[in-house]
Amino acid sequence: MTTLKTRKKIGETARNLFVDLVIAVGFLFSLQPHFTGMTIHEWLGISLAGAFLLHILLHWRWLYATTSRFFKKLARQSRVNFILNLVLLIDFTLITLTGILISEEVLPLLGLTGSHSMIWKSIHTISAELSIWIVGLHIALHWKWVLSATKKYLFGWLPRRKKQVTAQANSII
Ligand code: HEM
Ligand code: HEM
Repeated sequence: MTTLKTRKKIGETARNLFVDLVIAVGFLFSLQPHFTGMTIHEWLGISLAGAFLLHILLHWRWLYATTSRFFKKLARQSRVNFILNLVLLIDFTLITLTGILISEEVLPLLGLTGSHSMIWKSIHTISAELSIWIVGLHIALHWKWVLSATKKYLFGWLPRRKKQVTAQANSII
């Protein structure tokens, strides 16, 4: 029998997996502005900033516990995750701010003109390229979670191998 606490945990995992998948797909598309076109690129980038905020807020308990214990006793894995998450936060803040500064579609809607400075453009491109590596590492560090949640919630409807083997064994008997 599943308790209320277990059900809450299942709900949280499914919800996090859904948000993670949405930001992963959004991130992949935002790396291809020439494919999506600049209008979609800019609105997608701004929406992603909101989605990242949600992603962080959904882990506020982890964030609170790790921040308050960072200079005390803390597992090495949590410490590494914390530092990497901080780097992620700085990098995505840079991408979003420089993106807005060089905007060709969103800013003109507000009656403003985006900067043509090569410095902001270069920082935008470099931080976007850097983000591929940091996000890759971020996902790699949560790989076990990604695999088990995906298996359970996305492919849970597939028949299990173990059950098939048992069924075959039963049919032989
Ligand atoms: C494409 C971008 C990203 C993807 C695909 C991604 C994916 C994930 C995954 C799979 C997890 C573990 C499962 C979970 O609990 O949800 C996670 C946890 C987490 N992510 Fe992200 N994430 C991204 C960007 C970010 C950014 C920009 C931040 C900003 C700080 C961030 C902060 C966190 C935090 C605080 C956690 C929970 C703590 C931890 O275990 O590290 N993530 N993320
Ligand atoms: C996750 C967020 C984002 C990522 C990963 C991202 C990534 C990229 C990449 C890879 C390029 C191509 C750079 C090149 O070809 O040299 C680019 C260009 C551009 N991005 Fe973003 N971007 C993001 C958010 C934004 C936002 C929020 C805006 C504005 C509101 C924006 C505005 C632009 C503009 C105007 C260009 C063209 C720059 C140029 O003319 O060289 N981006 N972005």
